[in-house]
Amino acid sequence: MMRVGVIGAGQIGSAIARILADSGKYEVIASRRKVELARDLERHGVTVTRDNREVASKAEVVFLSVKPGKAVKVLDEVADLLAGKILISVAAAVPVERLAAAAPGAKVVRAMPNIALSVGASFTAYCRGPGVTDEDVEIVERLLGEMGSYAEVDEEHMDAVTALSGSGPAYVATLIEAMAYAGLKVGLPRDLAYLSSAQTVLGTAKMYLETGLHPATIKEMVLTPAGTTIEGIFYIEESGIRTALMRAVEAATKRAKEIASTLNSGG
Ligand SMILES: NC(=O)c1ccc[n+]([C@@H]2O[C@H](COP(=O)([O-])OP(=O)(O)OC[C@H]3O[C@@H](n4cnc5c(N)ncnc54)[C@H](OP(=O)(O)O)[C@@H]3O)[C@@H](O)[C@H]2O)c1
Repeated sequence: MMRVGVIGAGQIGSAIARILADSGKYEVIASRRKVELARDLERHGVTVTRDNREVASKAEVVFLSVKPGKAVKVLDEVADLLAGKILISVAAAVPVERLAAAAPGAKVVRAMPNIALSVGASFTAYCRGPGVTDEDVEIVERLLGEMGSYAEVDEEHMDAVTALSGSGPAYVATLIEAMAYAGLKVGLPRDLAYLSSAQTVLGTAKMYLETGLHPATIKEMVLTPAGTTIEGIFYIEESGIRTALMRAVEAATKRAKEIASTLNSGG
């Protein structure tokens, strides 16, 4: 069984460790300093340690999921043990070049999943660094496939992907909450308001993904002349929801670039 390590078993790291261990296909070892906070991973068969070097030496593929500002420091600590191994960093904004400089000899992949990986429904974009072969990518895609869907992208798109699908669950959760509030306003019981809202987001996304119908076409299918939906859509359009989302993703992309430049200047 392939041995996979996770350095930084926080929110994203422990979800990665749990999903891979639960698949039954990988032996997983994970680390964090406050190791007692990761103990529940042991119920999933994950070996838990506070020793990053133990993770790097035992694993064949290593995920790095510490906060972006710590990525290079943590790599410095384990770099000699990563030579020839695949290193998958999920740290936002840290460029491949910087990761490769900190862990020379490692085969660096930079990935951006989202928190839906905890239920196997992440969208993960990744890009590969120098020396990463098609065989390495096969291994990476098998791992990412356990967490949801994935796509290889050029590194120049990673900050935008971070802002769209990395941060996206926060935008969509706001939408689900807003639609549920709307349900409450028109008298739906609370559980029904949240369930109908979330299922509608899930179903619409599934419809797009499975049929390939353009979202505008899906919308047209619901819009009857003088019907109820067009009444609702009138207010949605008036609210400027599209420009709000466009501004949100644009601002988050800019922020990812700012964080990257802080890291590059060593700050
Ligand atoms: N949250 C998201 O939705 C999301 C989505 C995509 C990507 N990411 C990326 O994933 C990374 C982690 O984010 P997160 O939200 O999971 O943060 P988090 O919950 O704070 O996890 C980071 C973990 O790193 C551990 N850590 C810190 N210093 C360490 C060290 N020296 N050695 C080993 N472990 C150490 C921390 O635990 P201790 O303090 O106990 O060591 C903590 O559990 C970030 O780089 C972020 O950009 C996050």
